[in-house]
Amino acid sequence: MINIAVLVSGSGTNLQAIIDEVGKGHIPAKIAFVLSDKKDAFALERARKAGIETITLDKKDYKKREDFDRKIIERLKNKNVELVILAGFMRLLSSYFVREYRNRIINIHPALLPSFKGSHGIKDALAHGVKVTGVTVHFVDEHLDNGPIILQKTVDIKEDDTEETLLERIHKEEHKAYPEAIKLFVEGKLEIKGRKVKVKYEVVRR
Ligand code: GRF
Repeated sequence: MINIAVLVSGSGTNLQAIIDEVGKGHIPAKIAFVLSDKKDAFALERARKAGIETITLDKKDYKKREDFDRKIIERLKNKNVELVILAGFMRLLSSYFVREYRNRIINIHPALLPSFKGSHGIKDALAHGVKVTGVTVHFVDEHLDNGPIILQKTVDIKEDDTEETLLERIHKEEHKAYPEAIKLFVEGKLEIKGRKVKVKYEVVRR
């Protein structure tokens, strides 16, 4: 069973979905800890409630981004973490971090990448008037919302959608997509070739 860690900054609804699926035994992994850069993130409450260790790091205590990231890497290595899950973690990772955990960091984005990168994926899709948006789970590289895509789910946009109504449907898809992608990773079913991620599904022989 591999150790995973979840990095958060906010409400943690994705974290909750992951906790639930790990708890049901659907994802063969242990959540070693949940780390936040915001001490009042509700996600930390969710972790505590599930009996998971929590760590809070305040960026004010570190001069450079890399110093902050070095502290995280130290914690990850201490616990033999093999997969880092960004779930609403609102900080860009330094290239040092990405190098240390190359192809072992994943993120979820609330749009169909490469469209609507950045922190306003839902608002930007609505403003652009696209008819279909969705969610993307991808590996993290040195560039924002750019790494190889593991899976995507689509969400139709309705004429009367507001940011709130669309967010609700996006979240529903995220809470299915993220555990699904994590399960594929921990079961060793993902193979990265350049920009492409191949999913090795088992062939069922009769
Ligand atoms: C999600 O919408 C995710 O796509 C984005 O940040 C949000 C986190 O939400 N990266 P939550 O904290 O998991 O509720």
